[in-house]
Formats: sequence, structure tokens, C-alpha cells
Amino acid sequence: MTVEQIRVSTEWLDLREPADAAARSSDLVERIRRQLPAAGRMVIHDLACGSGSMARWLAPLLPGPQLWVMHDRDADLLEVAAANPPGPAADGAPVIVETRLSDITQLLPDDLAGANLITASALLDLITGDPLADLVGLCSAVGCPVLLTLSVVGRVELAPAEPLDRSVAGAFDAHQRRMTAGGRLLGPDAVSAAAGRFRMMGHRVLVRSSPWRLGPADADLAAEWLTGWLDAACEQEAELAAGVGAYADRRLAQARAGQLAVTVGHSDLLVLS
Ligand SMILES: C[S@@+](CC[C@H](N)C(=O)[O-])C[C@H]1O[C@@H](n2cnc3c(N)ncnc32)[C@H](O)[C@@H]1O
Repeated sequence: MTVEQIRVSTEWLDLREPADAAARSSDLVERIRRQLPAAGRMVIHDLACGSGSMARWLAPLLPGPQLWVMHDRDADLLEVAAANPPGPAADGAPVIVETRLSDITQLLPDDLAGANLITASALLDLITGDPLADLVGLCSAVGCPVLLTLSVVGRVELAPAEPLDRSVAGAFDAHQRRMTAGGRLLGPDAVSAAAGRFRMMGHRVLVRSSPWRLGPADADLAAEWLTGWLDAACEQEAELAAGVGAYADRRLAQARAGQLAVTVGHSDLLVLS
């Protein structure tokens, strides 16, 4: 197993869901709509679905009846996903959800046979090179479009800016690329690594920027994100931890008061045959 074994909380996924929905590329949805089967029920496999936010965003943007097969290794998150299914399709057709307790690194092409679309969100940056190669091989063998959204790309901007922002951002990126028992996490390199691998297998890959742009209305998310950003950076660089106290207090107070604009860079990928 070479995917970071970090348990993701429902509270964190709930908090980020509106910002994720606002950030995801609608241009790529338009491209997916052009690839859909003309008739019949579409089958979509969402890998590492968490609490199901990808389906709640995408299903109502696609026409026609849909079956969403949601895979995750966390049974509690699957329960939340099943209890909060997406609304109907864009044309009012029914959308059905089925959950599967799966380790996505162990899936075989037969497990996804008949898929019309494979999706994954906020996943690629958590994995190392080997499971990425397996994932690319799996998707390529299934042979349908693949939408991989919201992978971090190592671009963070805070406004107003401060000199320490760059040091914290650098340490955070290093933390995202840290060595684990299963190898080095891809972190901000995930998008270029995935795009490169899919292209090597002869696929067309479209990449779109999908940043979070958090303002005064997103104060809770900004504060929670900032806490995680600072904790990861300090865990990575002990020297930084020693000198960042006043900066951290000031930045958190700004975030909680809605006085910190935060841009977190992500990219979305659509892989076509
Ligand atoms: C950051 S969350 C993203 C959840 C969801 N895709 C979203 O965008 O809200 C990462 C998810 O990956 C799941 N996950 C990580 N490694 C996995 C694996 N090997 N097999 C199945 N699920 C995995 C976690 O349980 C978690 O739900």
C-alpha cells in the first residue's frame, strides 16, 4: 500500500465541498458531455470518493440516467456518501449510487468493466509513483474518459502578502513530497507526472487550472486550511517552527476574521482516448 494512510474527516470534506465545487473546471465537464453515450445509463466509478462530493457536483451537470459506483477504503465516509446522494441529472433523469469498500490500489480492470467515466478528486497528490503508474494502467485498460480533479500544484498566495509566506509555502511543498514507507509522495508533482504517464500511453490529456479562491465568506475554511498548512510546514522544518509563532497567530487571526484572501492552486485533468 503506497497511498498515504491519512484518515480524512467528514468535517473537513464538508467544509471544503463548496470551495471545491466552485474551483472544479466546468470547461472539462463540457468536454465530458461530448463523450457521453447517446443513450442508456451511464456508469461512473468515483475512486477514493470520500463523502461523495464529486458526484454531488458532477451528476447534476450531466444529462441522462447515471449509476455512480463510489469506491473508498473508509467505510464511515462511504456511509456518508450513500446517505447524501447527488440530485437528479441535468435533464431530470435518475442518479443512483452504489458504494464499494475498495482499496483503489488493488482494483483490476474487471472491477471497472463497462465504465463510461472514471473520476477521482483530491487524490493524486497523496500517492507515490507506483500507485500512480498502476492507476494510469488501470484507467487505460478500461478505456473510458478519466477526470482527475483538484490536485495541488504548489502555488499558494496570501493577500496581504508577508515575507514569511514563501518560506512556509516551500516547507509545505517539501512536506507534500516527503518520503513515506511506500516511497516519495507526488505532492505538487502529481499533475505533471499523471499527464506525462497518460500521454506516454497514447492518451490526449487536457489540463485546466482549478484554484480555490477563498475570501471573506470562506473564513472557516481559510482558517482550517491555514492551520493544516502551517502544521505541515513546521513538521517538515524544525527551524521554521521555532520562528513562526507570531506570524502564525497573526495569519490565523486574519483568516478567522475574513481578512485574508487565500488562493490555493490546483489542476484538473481530463484524459481522453
Ligand atoms: C482528500 S480525500 C478526497 C475525497 C473526495 N474524493 C473529495 O474530493 O472530497 C482522499 C480520499 O481518498 C481515500 N483513499 C486514500 N487512499 C485510498 C485507497 N488506497 N483506496 C481507497 N480510498 C483511498 C480516503 O479514504 C479519502 O476519502
